[in-house]
Amino acid sequence: MNATIAVLAGDGIGPEVTEQAIKSLKSIERRFHHQFHLKHGLVGAAAIDATGNPFPDESRELCQNADAILFGAIGHPKYDNDPKAKVRPEQGLLAMRKQLGLFANVRPVKSYQQLLHISPLKSERVENVDFVVFRELTGGIYFGEPRGRSEDGSKAFDSCVYSKEEIIRVTELAFQAAAGRRKKVTLVDKANVLATSRLWRETVTDYAREFPEITLDCMFVDNAAMQLIQNPGRFDVILTENMFGDIITDEASVITGSLGMLPSASVGTDLSLFEPIHGSYPEVAGMNRANPMAAILSLAMMLEYSLSLNEEAQCIRDAVESCISEGILTEDLTDGKAYGTSEVGEAISEFVSASRPVNSKSPS
Ligand code: IPM
Ligand code: MG
Repeated sequence: MNATIAVLAGDGIGPEVTEQAIKSLKSIERRFHHQFHLKHGLVGAAAIDATGNPFPDESRELCQNADAILFGAIGHPKYDNDPKAKVRPEQGLLAMRKQLGLFANVRPVKSYQQLLHISPLKSERVENVDFVVFRELTGGIYFGEPRGRSEDGSKAFDSCVYSKEEIIRVTELAFQAAAGRRKKVTLVDKANVLATSRLWRETVTDYAREFPEITLDCMFVDNAAMQLIQNPGRFDVILTENMFGDIITDEASVITGSLGMLPSASVGTDLSLFEPIHGSYPEVAGMNRANPMAAILSLAMMLEYSLSLNEEAQCIRDAVESCISEGILTEDLTDGKAYGTSEVGEAISEFVSASRPVNSKSPS
């Protein structure tokens, strides 16, 4: 296969974890005889520093001409502490989602047997956790109009707006995913209070009638926040709107132990973007301490979703599991000896290259 991949490494730990994902991509290229053309572009604080714009036109064009986008992270503390900053790195991410039509954010959450002990929850609660959140990404309160300040500046307002069309297109993806899984969709909303949530509930319930093999249940977001802690194993596919999805995916991400393990896809009609969910984590940027596994697992999602390279994607997932089994772990995953970002990245890319079936340890 010949594919062009836009690489937007961004800020904080974004560049170093993306670099590790690229090592595994090169191993896949060699092992499976593909050609991946990597095109690097700027985004976030790095782009503001260079051009004044967090998602410059050149980066947008680079993405539009690519088969998929590999994204690192954006965000910089100098903007977090300045509520008056005119441009913010996060605007780059939101602009990218809107301009590229990335309407669904897919975040799988799966526990690893060897890492159960680092979960903040009791092991028996996290064992066998395996669900995926479909979060609507380009609507709702993040983008609704009107928004802003009253003329005298003493009031501020945001609008939560949804159309049926926006609800249906992400619902389709969630139901397709459920059909290949345990056939259960949980819609998370606040239909006891919000008009938009009532439209979600009505639209998704109507849609579900066409798919009797899929069980739909509807849950208020406050209850869902609680159930995610009490009984995360009950979920299969969670479908939700933008803001609720933002909040519960952060909650969900720590259930399995470390934010550093979880990949994501932001899916559009023709183009999708893949990113670790951990953000820019500036405290350890450049220190070779960040966990590169989420970025590497995001690469696996990219191979599968955008390029239909399922065997290659599985090879990467197996390599990550081998690395975990052999205890080659960054500091977030172990109390014992911790390895650096680049050592873990290197080990995974070597497992990917290994001609022996990954997971089988060599005899001692
Ligand atoms: C996420 C992030 C973003 C969001 C921020 C950085 C704008 O939290 O991808 O979940 O709120 O969507
Ligand atoms: Mg978030």
